[in-house]
Amino acid sequence: MKVMVTGGAGFIGSHIVDLLLLNQYDVVVIDNLSTGRRRNLDKKVKFYHIDIRSEEINNIFQKEKPDYLIHHAAQIKVQTSIENPKLDADINIMGTLNLLEAAIRSGVKKIIYPASAAIYGEPCYLPIDEMHPIKMCSGYGVSKQIVESYLNVYKRIHGLDYVSLRYSNVYGPRQNSSGEGGVVSVFVDKLLHNESPKIYGTGEQSRDFIYVGDVAKANLLALESEIEEGIFNVSSNQSITISSLLEKIQSATNCFKDPVYKNEREGDIKHSLMCNLKINNYLGWKPQVDIDEGIKSTVSYYLINSGVSV
Ligand SMILES: NC(=O)c1ccc[n+]([C@@H]2O[C@H](COP(=O)([O-])OP(=O)(O)OC[C@H]3O[C@@H](n4cnc5c(N)ncnc54)[C@H](O)[C@@H]3O)[C@@H](O)[C@H]2O)c1
Repeated sequence: MKVMVTGGAGFIGSHIVDLLLLNQYDVVVIDNLSTGRRRNLDKKVKFYHIDIRSEEINNIFQKEKPDYLIHHAAQIKVQTSIENPKLDADINIMGTLNLLEAAIRSGVKKIIYPASAAIYGEPCYLPIDEMHPIKMCSGYGVSKQIVESYLNVYKRIHGLDYVSLRYSNVYGPRQNSSGEGGVVSVFVDKLLHNESPKIYGTGEQSRDFIYVGDVAKANLLALESEIEEGIFNVSSNQSITISSLLEKIQSATNCFKDPVYKNEREGDIKHSLMCNLKINNYLGWKPQVDIDEGIKSTVSYYLINSGVSV
């Protein structure tokens, strides 16, 4: 079976590619390398260095005829979507439609799509389940929700099966430490360079972090499942404050540099926690890597790849 992975050279996409290869899938990657890296990819993967908005996409799908599409290429910065909503919509909505059109013409059976907690906005209750009201606070959240709506429409009109996975905060090896939302990699990077990490607000705000290997497994299970149409949270269902997270990373890096406190950022959500019962019930998925283990493997990765010795 052949799987086309867009954004496969990026953080989450490259872990999905690794897992697909391990499970004997034939994998083809599309990525424009705007944030992704060629070195994240196994040499035996067929790679197209191209933008998902390109007219060439249709020809690539006609040539490759993938059975499945796992679509992870995106503009991922919330701030960019607020400052430049047209760019965000162009990549995340128009780029996705370009892929969906190519997918139905070439006979793709199913698409796996990564949505986000950004769809829920400021929580009305915790933990957030899939029935929680949709109240986006950014263009990024809007683009994720609009694509879910299109997936629903493509299922009705063209019979294209889909699973949308709404991730909480994904962390782990290969995450860009300058990226938004990558607070684990940002803290690890700062501490390994003996610099003070920044905390916006008091540090008592809490989040739900999910390890990237577990996210890759959720994608594989969704692809292999009988489910023809579904939306699932992918989260740890465990909340941790940013201050406690920093303490864990300080211990793992053995660097106890104090944080610098900055003003709370406008629009930052105080507490976020996503319920993962539905995906457990339907796909039998459960997170396998707890936060301590996940932080350890993230620190090891940055130690090997940053050349810093501690
Ligand atoms: N990281 C998280 O916590 C998180 C949470 C929820 C959802 N997501 C979603 O998961 C997906 C992957 O995110 P990530 O964290 O791995 O980010 P990432 O930036 O590492 O990966 C995105 C990849 O897409 C590629 N790309 C970007 N624009 C492209 C374009 N126009 N054409 C072709 N390739 C393009 C980049 O080069 C990169 O390799 C995104 O859709 C993101 O919105 C991530």
